[in-house]
This record gives sequence, structure tokens and C-alpha cells, in this order.
Amino acid sequence: MVTSECAPLAKTGGLADAVAGLSRALSLAGHDVRILMPHYASFDTNSSPYTTFPDGSGLRLCSDTLDGAELFLHHVPAFDSIDTIYTGDNRDAARFVALSFAAAWFGHAAKWQPDVIHCHDWHAALVPDVLQFIANEAVSNAREAADTPPTSPLSSVVPTVLTLHNIGYQGIFASAAIPAPQWTALSRQQLHEESAATVNFLKLGIQHATAITTVSPTYAKEILTPQFGMGLEDEIRKREAELTGILNGVDYATWDPRTDPYLNYHYSDDDSESKQIIRAALCDRLQLSPEPGAPVVGLVSRFAEQKGIDLFIDALPTLLNQTSTAFAILGSGDAELTSRLQLIAESSPSRVAFKAGYDEPLAHQIVAGSDFLIIPSRYEPCGLTQLYSLRYGTIPIVRSTGGLADTVKHFNPETGSGNGCVFNDADANALIWALTTSIEWFGNPNAWQRIKRNAMSEDHAWSKRVNDYTTLYEKAIDATFRIKAGKFVS
Ligand code: ADP
Ligand code: GLC
Repeated sequence: MVTSECAPLAKTGGLADAVAGLSRALSLAGHDVRILMPHYASFDTNSSPYTTFPDGSGLRLCSDTLDGAELFLHHVPAFDSIDTIYTGDNRDAARFVALSFAAAWFGHAAKWQPDVIHCHDWHAALVPDVLQFIANEAVSNAREAADTPPTSPLSSVVPTVLTLHNIGYQGIFASAAIPAPQWTALSRQQLHEESAATVNFLKLGIQHATAITTVSPTYAKEILTPQFGMGLEDEIRKREAELTGILNGVDYATWDPRTDPYLNYHYSDDDSESKQIIRAALCDRLQLSPEPGAPVVGLVSRFAEQKGIDLFIDALPTLLNQTSTAFAILGSGDAELTSRLQLIAESSPSRVAFKAGYDEPLAHQIVAGSDFLIIPSRYEPCGLTQLYSLRYGTIPIVRSTGGLADTVKHFNPETGSGNGCVFNDADANALIWALTTSIEWFGNPNAWQRIKRNAMSEDHAWSKRVNDYTTLYEKAIDATFRIKAGKFVS
């Protein structure tokens, strides 16, 4: 696995949870998994030096594994002054180009050849190009040395799988952002086929990875269209035959109300007193005082355009007027959304609690202690918080898009089917409709018990996705082997 994030060590969102959860599940199923991630300056972890690479960077090996999956940290001394995971500027380009070279050198350094390299998001999307460059160099060096006829340049390339967790982040940089030695190497790979001035990491990965996955079947279809493809839809359509949508799983070692380390009480059934105690503790902590019989609606999110937080804020005054709901909100990101929410929270402190920032324990307490979790995303490749909330008996209220559409089915009180509330339009009125509908179910003990039972009985364990990934890895290996064997060369 080559990644920018892996929980719990480095996390800004679901990518970290997904890489950790999939790696653990593969390792528990008997696969030999090694994760390569940057060594961020803020790390406070036990790791020891492992090897040094030709560019002076090195690998450190963490003493803890993720259920056997080993975690390697790529340490570049020049990046020690950066105190965040992402900088949002050219230093990100330098960091992740360096990580891609480390991935290519890794097999040699660790004396261990992976069968497949699984690259996550734009941060690792240059790996196929770097591998190709190194293979080409090796072939041409060997040819010069032995004066032998050229062999296929692909002969020593390890198959790659690129997972698109979110196509809204592509890693677009001026080519000058890539440090000179790596740029010289990569430009021989014709990186700049369209424009010498710009490099789009994700686009190159889509063009050159052996196989491509994304994190839900619906998002796999959506990204073929201009509405969701973010300008890459044509490139993705060219690779449609190699694109698969595999739903993310849940790492129940971390997200389960039976064992959640961030909760003082635990529960496993849909009629639990412990959940009520956790809810009361959450309200205490956030100084919320919901009226008797009124629900608590939670929201835990990055504040980005994708997440539809503005729709929620637009709906909030009406929701406060027309219902007696209380809101527990945790989020970090966009400054304007943050100050709008702060104003509302200040004027209704007993009904709206808002914590700005990133807070892992509070995220768990909101998911566990709320009655509903609201996720009004404009687009959502998979979404993990709705999957967590199902297990906690916290009913998800979601917009019908991407992985939200694949995992949340609108409740029907007559048939008793469904696990949440689903609305279609990306506007405040749809959200108001969804919340008032959900409150009706909340007020009806039979409906409420039924929907909670439906939600909590679902199983989205990562172990259930292992088969899909190993089948895909085998196909990628097979495709590379056929190229090697000269049966076809694309
Ligand atoms: P995304 O990856 O797009 O942010 P996901 O639903 O896949 O969305 O994953 C979000 C993850 O990040 C969840 O584990 C959620 O609990 C966590 N998260 C989001 N915002 C915060 C926050 N402000 N504090 C703590 N955890 C957060
Ligand atoms: C991205 C997506 C989110 C997905 C997560 C993990 O951050 O926005 O929908 O769940 O990656 O795959």
C-alpha cells in the first residue's frame, strides 16, 4: 500500500481509515501487506531506521503492526520543518514524488518483491510512471552493458492498482514544482504529453495503472460523467474496462459500540440504556439541553464544498424554528462555513453545539451519542461515517449520491424495510423534508425500534471485501504476466 494517510497515525479523513482497515483485513486473511507512508514531522511513534535510499532519504519501520501489516515511514530530512500532513502548495508535489520513488526502490531495499503495489489517491498516483521509468533504465543499462537486443520495457514492472478515493483532489502542479532530478527522470516518461507546464498526478495514474478501483459501485458510474468526473471523465472512460467499484468496509476494531475505546459505556442492542447514558454525557459535554422527546442530530465532517455543509447551514434556522431538534456538530475546514455555524451556535447554545477542529474522541462520542447523523454531501465516493453510524444505531440522513446511495436505503414504515433517510435534491428544502420525516419515525416507538434494528444488524466488515480485492489483484498480476509473456503489448 502506498498512501499519504493511515489511521491512527496520520488521518485527515476516511482515506486513513480505509487504508488501515483494508490492510488489516488482508493481513488477517494471510496476505503479506506492507504500507508505505511519509514520515510526518509531527509523528510521535516508535520507529527505527531501516534503510537509506540513493537520494539520501530513508525508511523507518514502525514497531507496531496493523494486525501483521507492517508500516514503513519514508523520512526525507528536508521535510522535517513541515508540521502538517498536507501543505496545499508545491511542497506536497515534492513530498509525494519522493514517496513514489521510495515505493519503486522499496522492493530492492527490503529484499522483498510485492506481487502488487496498491496506490491510494493522487499522492501515490505517480508510482506506475516511476516504476516504468526505473524498468526502462534497467533495460537500457543492461542493453548497453551486454549489447543484447532490447526486451520489453515492461518486463520488470510490478502490477499497480490505483484506488480513487476522491477524484476532486488530483494533485495538479506546475512542472517546476517537481524537483529537478525527479523531473528529468519523469519527463522521459512523457509526463508532459499535453502541457509541459503542468502535471496532473491523478490523471497519469489513471492512464498508467494496471487496474483502477474506486470506493463504491455508484461512484464508479458517476465518475464517467462530466458532472462527477471533475474533468477526468474522458480519461476514466478510456480505462472503463479496468475500473471496478468496491464498497469500503468498516474497521470494527475501531468503530464498534461494543468496544469503542473512546466511550465509557458500551452497547450492542437497539434498546440500550448505555446509548442513552452516552447521549446524556455528550449533551453535558457540549452543554446541549434537548427538550424531552426531541432528537439529537450529529454531524461530523470535513468542511469542504463536497460535503454540502452550506445546505445544512441554510436549513438550520428553519429546523430550529419548526422542530425541537438539538444539533451536535464537529468539523474542520472552510473558514466561512465555520464562522456561519459559530454565529448560529452562539445564538442557540442549548440547541446547537459546534466544535471547530479535528477531534477523534469527540467524533466517536457524537456518532455514538446522537439519534441521527446527517450527511448532506453533494458527492460522496463512499463515505464512512454513515457506515459507522449504522452500527451505533444512529440513523443516517443522507443525500442520494455515490456510496451513500449504495449503503443507505430509505425507511418504509409500512414494510419495515430500510436503514435511514435518503433525500435527492442538493438544497435546504430537501434537507428540511428529510429531517422532519426522520423526526416522525423517531416519535413512533415501533418504527424507531425497527429502523434501529435494521441499521445495527448490518455488517460492513472489511473482511467481506477481501475477496473482491484479491480477485482484482490476481487479474492485475495476470494482465502484467501476459504482457511479459509477449502475448500482447499495449
Ligand atoms: P472523507 O474521507 O471524505 O472526509 P469519510 O466519511 O470517508 O469522508 O471519512 C471521514 C472520517 O474522518 C471519519 O472517520 C470521520 O469520523 C472523520 N472526521 C471527519 N471530520 C472530523 C473531525 N473534525 N474530527 C474528527 N474526525 C473527523
Ligand atoms: C474520500 C472520500 C470518502 C471515502 C474516503 C475513503 O475521502 O471523500 O467518500 O469514504 O475517501 O475511501
